[in-house]
Amino acid sequence: MVTATRIAYNNISLEVDEEGIALITIRRAAKLNALNTETLEDLRKAMYEVYENAEIKSVIITGEGTKAFAAGADISELAELDEVSAKKYSQNGQDVYAMVENCRKPVIGAINGYALGGGCELALACHMRVAVENAKFGLPEVKLGTLPGFGGTQRLTQSIGKAKTLELIMTGDMLSAQEAKELGLINYVVTSHEEMMSKSREMLLKIASSGPVAIAMVINSVNTVYSTFERGYQKEAQFFGASAKTHDFHEGMRAFLEKRKPAFQGK
Ligand code: COA
Repeated sequence: MVTATRIAYNNISLEVDEEGIALITIRRAAKLNALNTETLEDLRKAMYEVYENAEIKSVIITGEGTKAFAAGADISELAELDEVSAKKYSQNGQDVYAMVENCRKPVIGAINGYALGGGCELALACHMRVAVENAKFGLPEVKLGTLPGFGGTQRLTQSIGKAKTLELIMTGDMLSAQEAKELGLINYVVTSHEEMMSKSREMLLKIASSGPVAIAMVINSVNTVYSTFERGYQKEAQFFGASAKTHDFHEGMRAFLEKRKPAFQGK
């Protein structure tokens, strides 16, 4: 039996199955599951629920539909930011994603389509990733006149190394699921949505056969390898804020919303 939990959400759903696997689904398919502030707050609430609810043993995060896991932070919100609010926006996203990364229960990102910008950063905050073969990964923020602000500069580097991270972020190019797997960004590529869910569940059930205390310690110990990177997140948020002061930030965001090419001026 699958049960919805007691908390009300606006843009996500959270269901827990009989094995204690919580399925968190981002539900803004008409906007390719773009992560606006309301959705990030839903995700924060859902992670509190995961932390507190003893019936929940592990988590799968996915997106509604077959087109997108999440196509990034919501550009219509980004377009309104100034230096101070952009830095806060970045820090808020970083905080929510840190809750995912630091969860004591295993979290799998089930990537059902585009994982771009904040969507790719959310996937990277999950402990493991299973993607359908048509999924696409990328951090295209430079095309909008800014940089990744939800931990992407840090976690992508941790995941695939410096040279490929710089290439991907500076070009804004997308990776296919197969390329992402070859670089070590994801664990498995599968051929269908059903297989994505069954593979994710299979991994979580295997992990659940071991002691949860040991699993929590594994997650914590592995995360500790990266804890010295804390200053990098602060710098990322600071730069995200600073980028919102530029002409190019607002031009990039407006151009996307107006469906035209941006005219960057380098200022
Ligand atoms: N924020 C807000 N809205 C978004 C969005 C985002 N990150 N990504 C997609 N959308 C919206 C589009 O504006 C469009 O809305 P509309 O139907 O009201 O016009 C809808 O979702 C569908 O997107 P569309 O661009 O028409 O789909 P597509 O198949 O032509 O292109 C993408 C798909 C993913 C390539 C394209 O949507 C895209 O480049 N998105 C932005 C990716 C990005 O830069 N992310 C980083 C943000 S920091």
